[in-house]
Amino acid sequence: MDNWLTLETRNLRQSWQKYDQHILMDYLVQDVEDPRINVPSILTRHYLLRQLFPGCYDYDYLMDQEIRFALAVNWLRKLLKTPIRSEQLRSIVYALGEGQSAAGEILIPRFLQETFAALKFPNYMCYLFGYAPVETVELPIPEYILNTFQKIWREILEQQPGQTISVLEPACGSANDYRFLHTFGIARFLDYTGFDLCEKNIHNARHLFAAADFRVGNVLAMDFPDQSFDYCFIHDLFEHLSVPAMEVAVSEICRVTRQGIVIGFFNMQDIALHQVQPVASYHWNILSLARTREMFTARAAAVRVIPISSWLASKFHFQETHNPHAYAFYVEL
Ligand SMILES: C[S@@+](CC[C@H](N)C(=O)[O-])C[C@H]1O[C@@H](n2cnc3c(N)ncnc32)[C@H](O)[C@@H]1O
Repeated sequence: MDNWLTLETRNLRQSWQKYDQHILMDYLVQDVEDPRINVPSILTRHYLLRQLFPGCYDYDYLMDQEIRFALAVNWLRKLLKTPIRSEQLRSIVYALGEGQSAAGEILIPRFLQETFAALKFPNYMCYLFGYAPVETVELPIPEYILNTFQKIWREILEQQPGQTISVLEPACGSANDYRFLHTFGIARFLDYTGFDLCEKNIHNARHLFAAADFRVGNVLAMDFPDQSFDYCFIHDLFEHLSVPAMEVAVSEICRVTRQGIVIGFFNMQDIALHQVQPVASYHWNILSLARTREMFTARAAAVRVIPISSWLASKFHFQETHNPHAYAFYVEL
């Protein structure tokens, strides 16, 4: 490895190794980052399911409903951060049932009305807006509600015969997404390899999944032969690399993957140039959509871009995404 890459690797490693092991275990699977309701994570699971079961068109309906569920939970989470009483939450279900666009002072967004109207009654929204006891809404949304689609996918996928694709996840953290590939019943179809530069993350991942292939590794210097994996997915890494290192990482993931790559970005904009922002010993860059796309098109057959915020607005009429700078790329090799 060149000296500059060795130095950048050392800095990146220190940037995550400095955190407490227990913080690393959970900090990226909480609140809006919870992969059950985090849209980029959901899109990656859907991508893998589409590769595994290309003819299952009725899965498309379920995928659509799963995104709607995530949006409903995200909307409620935002509402819970405002002063609100549990009887106001319950009145939302009543208003939805009556086809009203407001419950008292609470405006009910169009996506919620449309989603509710398309579901049979009772449905998960009755639990979602009715779980809080009369005295308080301070309690977190219960796990059994957050697991609604996990349970559905698990039951459906249990009936599918086994078939396997090989999948690589660089920068896997503490098995942040793999945990949910497992609980959603998807992991058993994957010949999965996850790696991360931070040993503490890999320690956590192995603690959770002793039998899975988690290893310490560097996306800037992978020792896998060319085209070792059918698919690759990677979330929230590229913004933290210098632009030359990002070129190396893109080249490396395209080299080791045969068919397709999904990438989740958290800080991308439709701007001409990357905005390089060094922070401590790593980066927190604003990536240029055009420049990043160019890096992939130079090496790929096709690149499909999903600007998450406008995609949610146009497809689901959801206007309140928490991160307007999130993008997903689907790269076909
Ligand atoms: C923002 S976290 C994202 C973790 C996970 N992908 C997720 O979305 O929850 C970035 C991760 O990249 C890892 N990382 C940073 N530089 C890396 C490199 N050169 N090779 C592999 N992993 C790296 C860090 O250790 C950290 O776990």
